[in-house]
Amino acid sequence: MSEFDALLTATSATLARIASDFAPAVFASSLAAEDMVLTDLILRAKLPIGIFTLETGRLHAETLGMLERIRETYGVEIALFRPEPAEVDAYVAQHGLNGFYDSVELRKECCRIRKIEPLGRALAGKQAWVTGQRRAQSSTRTALDVQEHDAAHGMTKFNPLADWSEQDVWHYIRSNNVPYNPLHDKGYPSIGCEPCTRAIQPGEDVRAGRWWWENPDTKECGLHVVDGKLIRIKQVSA
Ligand code: ADX
Ligand code: SF4
Repeated sequence: MSEFDALLTATSATLARIASDFAPAVFASSLAAEDMVLTDLILRAKLPIGIFTLETGRLHAETLGMLERIRETYGVEIALFRPEPAEVDAYVAQHGLNGFYDSVELRKECCRIRKIEPLGRALAGKQAWVTGQRRAQSSTRTALDVQEHDAAHGMTKFNPLADWSEQDVWHYIRSNNVPYNPLHDKGYPSIGCEPCTRAIQPGEDVRAGRWWWENPDTKECGLHVVDGKLIRIKQVSA
């Protein structure tokens, strides 16, 4: 068995275990490449894991277009969770539509309103949730485990692609004809909200286009918290 096939077998086994031992479980899809791999694996295996997207109101048209592509390809409707309109209105009135460029605090507050609060609603009553995070994605994810306890939400959290490389993701997508966000072909390896994501140059870090005005170690939106901390850098002993 090739290294990739072994990885794929392990990932499929993890997803099957989540479906059988952690029901009800849900998968948070940003509709980017990693999440399309998981979507394909879940839907092909007909696993009872619900899929939702946090529709922040600031996603690219191309990202929203993936909802239709998924409907066409798999005949499945992705559930959407949106921010509370009153909270968005209050933020915009006080800080402006793009107040998040002004400080890390205002950026995190926008992420709280548009992503974290709706995430809480999406996860209510669930035993586990699944994400498409990979260890190699960023300096904040180097100690990511496939299975972890999410104390913030009081449930188990799975990152089935933790061990996958970017190359593995694209190998799976191409060999299985998985639909993917067209922005990936335009220099966007990592895709979040439109005003907070830009294309990168060849050779730049894959997350260089996310919140590009901030320090690399603050670049998490708060969706992924472990032990009350956002940063999961592996401690290297001297
Ligand atoms: S982020 O925390 O910096 O925004 P990133 O874009 O790398 O995260 O995505 C990591 C994982 O977080 C995704 O694989 C997905 O599981 C989840 N995620 C991020 N954005 C969303 C979204 N808008 N809706 C649902 N899940 C999301
Ligand atoms: Fe707001 Fe940007 Fe966070 Fe989206 S990524 S919720 S627009 S600060």
